[in-house]
Amino acid sequence: MKRILVTGGAGFIGANFVRHLSEHSDYEVTVLDKLTYAGNPASLAGLDERRVQLIVGDIADAALVDELVSRHDAIVHFAAESHNDNSLSDPMAFVQTNVVGTFVLLESVRKHGVRFHHISTDEVYGDLELDDPQRFTETTPYNPSSPYSSTKASSDLLVRAWVRSFGINATLSNCSNNYGPFQHVEKYIPRQITNILSGAMPRLYGTGNNVRDWIHVNDHSSAVQAILERGTIGKTYLVGADGERSNISVMRMILEYMGRGPDEFEWISDRPGHDLRYAIDASVLRNELNWVPEFQDFGAGLEHTIDWYCANEAWWLPAKQQTENKYSKSEIVLAGESK
Ligand code: NAD
Ligand code: DAU
Repeated sequence: MKRILVTGGAGFIGANFVRHLSEHSDYEVTVLDKLTYAGNPASLAGLDERRVQLIVGDIADAALVDELVSRHDAIVHFAAESHNDNSLSDPMAFVQTNVVGTFVLLESVRKHGVRFHHISTDEVYGDLELDDPQRFTETTPYNPSSPYSSTKASSDLLVRAWVRSFGINATLSNCSNNYGPFQHVEKYIPRQITNILSGAMPRLYGTGNNVRDWIHVNDHSSAVQAILERGTIGKTYLVGADGERSNISVMRMILEYMGRGPDEFEWISDRPGHDLRYAIDASVLRNELNWVPEFQDFGAGLEHTIDWYCANEAWWLPAKQQTENKYSKSEIVLAGESK
């Protein structure tokens, strides 16, 4: 494997993965990215142009995809509409990119016999109760809640069917919530940091008791590289780093690290259908591929992330106002503490 096509490589996780490959491999990388509102070529700035090339285009463009797939050894497929809140207001783009786009890629992979790795999410499994001792495993039944997660579940099922029916050389991974540099300001952690930096109040949905299982994006990248190079064809791997935290506890860590009081945030009406808790059991990945996450200390990773947003205002500021304008159309600020 020498030439890798990375779809969605100008997005948050894709760009971090391309950066990771630049440091930890000698692959040549082509990024295929439509540069939606979530894609930013600046996230690839500074990389060696002899090894990383950006092609602006749509994964649902069959002719473009076929030409690109035919001259690569492997595809890592990150491209997606990725934000739950957007999927509630405008689900069509999610069906088009996440389902139709993945179908177009699979047909080309089938034709050219190219290695394929599909990136997915733990949200395909639905949610867990706060006190449930179980975590998600590779055999947990699919039960997605939102338009976003249902389109990701659909894309996973397409990949599994193409493996079984057509014998394509594919693997899948379902990861928990990523954090780190280059994440769009619509997402929870960057939104709160950049609200504080721009003089606005951070915003917490519902009770704040919802739990997410945080993993540093660099650990997701090392897991994907391990699966790409050493994973068993046809298999699904869950990726997570034992990082369960309630939203309110993450909020208070951000406030503390940024010198604010513990209650300097606003309570917001809850997200419709809001998943309560995600939790990943990554033992298969750890035991079979000897993968170990590097960022075991969430507090230290969060402080690095805050430092990155403080030092990179030019990267996030252009998207900030538009993002907050979009949120202001649906968000209701609650008086006092939400229950
Ligand atoms: P993102 O929204 O930051 O980036 C998505 C990228 O895909 C953008 O660069 C965008 O321009 C591109 N894109 C969108 N539609 C496209 C199309 N039709 N053709 C080509 N490019 C297109 O998303 P992210 O957070 O980096 O997520 C990447 C992948 O990882 C997604 O598949 C997502 O479901 C999955 N995932 C994300 C997380 C997380 O915490 N963010 C966790 C688990 C899995
Ligand atoms: O679990 C993996 C998933 O994690 C990925 O598949 C998705 O692509 C990714 O966006 C993420 O989904 P979430 O919905 O969990 O992430 P988000 O950053 O939107 O929200 C995290 C939590 O924070 C969630 O419980 C909602 C809450 N929230 C979010 C925002 C934007 C707030 O309380 N306030 C906010 O302003």
